[in-house]
Amino acid sequence: MVREMPSIAIELQDVRRTYRVGNADVHALHGAELQVASGEFLAIVGVSGSGKSTLLHVIGGLDSPSAGRVLVRGDDVASMSAQQKTEYRRTMVGFVFQSFFLLPHLTAEENLQLALTMQGIYGLERSKRARNSIERVGLAHRARHKPSQLSGGEQQRVAVARAIVNRPRILLADEPTGNLDQATAHELMTLLRDISNDAEMTVLVVTHDEALVRQFCDRLVRMRDGKFVEQQLLHDVWHRAGGANNG
Ligand SMILES: Nc1ncnc2c1ncn2[C@@H]1O[C@H](COP(=O)(O)OP(=O)(O)OP(=O)(O)O)[C@@H](O)[C@H]1O
Ligand SMILES: [Mg+2]
Repeated sequence: MVREMPSIAIELQDVRRTYRVGNADVHALHGAELQVASGEFLAIVGVSGSGKSTLLHVIGGLDSPSAGRVLVRGDDVASMSAQQKTEYRRTMVGFVFQSFFLLPHLTAEENLQLALTMQGIYGLERSKRARNSIERVGLAHRARHKPSQLSGGEQQRVAVARAIVNRPRILLADEPTGNLDQATAHELMTLLRDISNDAEMTVLVVTHDEALVRQFCDRLVRMRDGKFVEQQLLHDVWHRAGGANNG
């Protein structure tokens, strides 16, 4: 049977990011090449300093590469104007970090509403989206809690809800389970995987926990010295796209 190739959500072509420190060059990204399928749940691993965070920043338009192309659904993020890049960050990508970065004086729901306000979404639409998003992460019963009244795992779920509140096509998570215990980390990965399944979101997660990766992700790619040096296919994205149940 001929299987249809999934479309490419992200393509990196010889991406470089060099920092000048004193009179030495630091090559945070040094010829990174990668293709990510639409809807894929991809894990990025690698030792500290291998360029993982820099990579997510460049894909998410928070940082610009020194050279190379960062194609997201065919558009080169690197060559966007400042205005285009702002629009791109607003509509196409969501970020989750190791620290949850929720505003402490706002409730979970208000944190989401604020994110929507900053996108120019108000009124009923804002309430509806915030509500949907908080329900999506299973925290409707905690919507009126402030961060200090939530567990670490719950706070990270709110951060995920905030990242998807604008229904981005790409979710970038930088060590999202880094501050969570094992059971909670497991739950968070389940959530991210479900989101990548049902929202057709492409999810890139940086992590040090390869056991979790093996259980949840479609593919593992390993970075070393600013480039990709290894990949392992774990689940079949093509299968998933066809709806087969492979755990
Ligand atoms: N602003 C900066 N100025 C200079 N060097 C930087 C800067 N940001 C990162 N680097 C260097 O670039 C390299 C890659 O950094 P990066 O943060 O991407 O690594 P990482 O893989 O995310 O590491 P970790 O697992 O510790 O988070 C490191 O050697 C780092 O010291
Ligand atoms: Mg990092």
